[in-house]
Amino acid sequence: KIAPNNAAFHTLAADIFMGALNRAAAKNGPIRVVLPTGSTPLGLYRELIAHHAHRRDLWDRFHYVALDDYAGLAPDDRRLFSNWLARDILTPLSIPPTHRTIFNSAAPDPSAECARMDAQLDSNGIDIAVLGLGTNGHIGFNEPGSAFDARTRLIHLSADSLAANAAYWGGMDHVPPTAYTLGLGHIMRARETILLVQGPHKAEILHRMLHDPISTALPATALRQMYNVTIVADQAAMSAA
Ligand code: GLP
Repeated sequence: KIAPNNAAFHTLAADIFMGALNRAAAKNGPIRVVLPTGSTPLGLYRELIAHHAHRRDLWDRFHYVALDDYAGLAPDDRRLFSNWLARDILTPLSIPPTHRTIFNSAAPDPSAECARMDAQLDSNGIDIAVLGLGTNGHIGFNEPGSAFDARTRLIHLSADSLAANAAYWGGMDHVPPTAYTLGLGHIMRARETILLVQGPHKAEILHRMLHDPISTALPATALRQMYNVTIVADQAAMSAA
């Protein structure tokens, strides 16, 4: 789905997201939704708060599942993606902490923390995965080379991701070097997926994601092996496609 400009991109993303949420609501119980950080989804989150907050029938069943997060930070660190999303969408939409499956960044034993998340994902799955696209083709923090059946793990941020994340926190020195990420193995089993791609700086990687051979060298090519994927892009991101 292609939006002609910036404003249209966010409303299109919100309409597609609400459609997915309504479909997911057809089953009983919590609606488990993976949400990304980054600059791309911020307009979507603003739209949801401004125009769709009244859908309490959906938000009361909404359950946020973390996609990725920095490791080794204290629970109140503002850089944590869980805190970022709390500020930008979860608290404004009154999603309570009991409806959030997040990483314990300060966990003393990272492999036990990964196993805890794996168990959650294995038993509950993902109804909707909203994803962004890294300029190096990463999904979450599944950096180039990540296996398509990978499970939750602790990774070292690539040079590309360190540079991209520096923009959020005022320089490279403020970016934690390691992070947790759900593996592609979990993400690829999402019942529905929405990939958000915006801006001319994403045009080349979007083109490669759509046309390069499917390979772990470009983790986002995994989406071509998934069902029910909608790509929402603006005209600028589509300029190389
Ligand atoms: C970050 C996050 C991803 C996000 C991506 C794109 O590093 N770990 O989950 O989707 O990079 O970010 P942006 O939307 O700012 O381009």
